[in-house]
Amino acid sequence: MASDLIRFSVAMPEDLLETFDEYVARRGVNANRSEVIRDLVRDALVDELWDKPGVEVAGTITMMYDHHTSDLTHKLDEVQHDFCNEVISTMHVHLDHHNCLEVVALKGDAQKIRMISDRLLGIKGVKEGRLTITSTGRYL
Ligand code: NI
Repeated sequence: MASDLIRFSVAMPEDLLETFDEYVARRGVNANRSEVIRDLVRDALVDELWDKPGVEVAGTITMMYDHHTSDLTHKLDEVQHDFCNEVISTMHVHLDHHNCLEVVALKGDAQKIRMISDRLLGIKGVKEGRLTITSTGRYL
């Protein structure tokens, strides 16, 4: 349900616009200024959702760990079971003999999603991890 497009003009310094156009070009042949600006605005608005209680977001947590680390996989499972209403799906990839990549998809209250992410990524032995959130589409 796309709403009508409204045109408006934007003023910016020439060098900033040149740099922006290079960025637009790197996004591919189908990209244009308007489309890229719309994406950037949506990103900014999604980032803002973080601090609003009661706002539902979707997100993914990507993490990498050594499954030999004592009790680590058990602790990761415990947290995911504690929040089974928010955790929609988990993908586990055995990268090599030691390392696992796990991607957890979540949906729920923004602040709760961040809390779950902090819990998972804070477990000792998680080598690298990050949370990415996106709108569920309801607010954009
Ligand atoms: Ni594995």
